[in-house]
Amino acid sequence: METVVVTLTGNDTACQIAAAGQILKQGGLVAFPTETVYGLGADALNPQASRRIYEAKGRPSDNPLIVHISNMEDLGKITAKVPAQAMELAAKFWPGPLTMIFEKSPLVPFETTGGLQTVAVRMPSHPVALALIQAGGGFVAAPSANTSGRPSPTTAEHVAQDMMGRIPMILDGGPVGIGIESTIVDVSGDMPMILRPGFITKEMVQDAVGPVELDPGLAAEGRNICPKAPGMKYRHYAPKGELILVDGERKAVQEEIIRLSKKAASSGRKVGVIGTDETCGAYPYGLVKSIGTREDEETIARHLYGVLREFDEQDVEIIYSESFSALGIGQAIMNRLLKAAGHRVLTAKKTED
Ligand code: TXA
Ligand code: MG
Repeated sequence: METVVVTLTGNDTACQIAAAGQILKQGGLVAFPTETVYGLGADALNPQASRRIYEAKGRPSDNPLIVHISNMEDLGKITAKVPAQAMELAAKFWPGPLTMIFEKSPLVPFETTGGLQTVAVRMPSHPVALALIQAGGGFVAAPSANTSGRPSPTTAEHVAQDMMGRIPMILDGGPVGIGIESTIVDVSGDMPMILRPGFITKEMVQDAVGPVELDPGLAAEGRNICPKAPGMKYRHYAPKGELILVDGERKAVQEEIIRLSKKAASSGRKVGVIGTDETCGAYPYGLVKSIGTREDEETIARHLYGVLREFDEQDVEIIYSESFSALGIGQAIMNRLLKAAGHRVLTAKKTED
């Protein structure tokens, strides 16, 4: 299949999005920008279209899709009930990087929900995403537009790396703003529960609706409690090389990464180092990349997946990364890094001086 990459600039945007909407209405796939990561869209109410998403991504069919909507009236059509707390969260964070889990209505096919009685819904804020949802009939199922298991795409080039020849169209709206996927909150139970941390932090959800739980399966990942979002149980976001996080006191972490990268380089392995703007200059061995600045952790979220993909392009075999505090957006950053690393974490010992 030929993949057309459409650059959205200037006066043609409305026409280009209308053409993309036609593809969706005919059951085809279109990759498009959202404020979090690029999505791979299909008509969420068409079972055959949803199946095509799983095929294109090589995604396990028990991993449900998020249905993207563009207005509140449409929420009622695909859900059985909308709890008051969900209305409060929607009022505060939609359109935006929040996904909520509801009981589904019969309109939503099980192909879209991976066989579940619940449906994940998000109203994105990216203008291209909103326009495409409207042009495509109102309900667009969209996972991140990467091959299953690879880092999520934050540019149209990343999408092309994974999807060229597999889908008819990629809408290029430039790099995304946030860089990690939406926060998922399950509002179908008594107390809201965060199933996937994201840009909207636990504190922000709590300020809006009171007490919130964190899925116990998240902290226990790598052990034996399964996370509630089916997708969170898979090794994900992973670069091709081996990624190892180094945790501990800042200075000790740097020294340990220098020691490890020296050792790997001298044994002939192609080694990468993930540092920050503050520390990159201090690493003498391997291919060193800054993931952002600790003074503004949003920059770290924005660059995370791109940096992992760059190491892939350069065939790096082993990557050592600094780790980050799990506060605020740091919780989402560490969740993604830990998954990408398959939970391999070394603790650097404090030096004596
Ligand atoms: O930011 C985002 O959410 C991006 C953009 C494109 O909107 N989408 C995204 O989709 O990250 P995806 O498919 O890569 O991740 C969806 C996650 C998976 O972990 C999936 O298991 C979970 O949402 N999920 C979907 N429906 C669910 C449901 N009914 N119950 C529990 N988890 C669900
Ligand atoms: Mg994904």
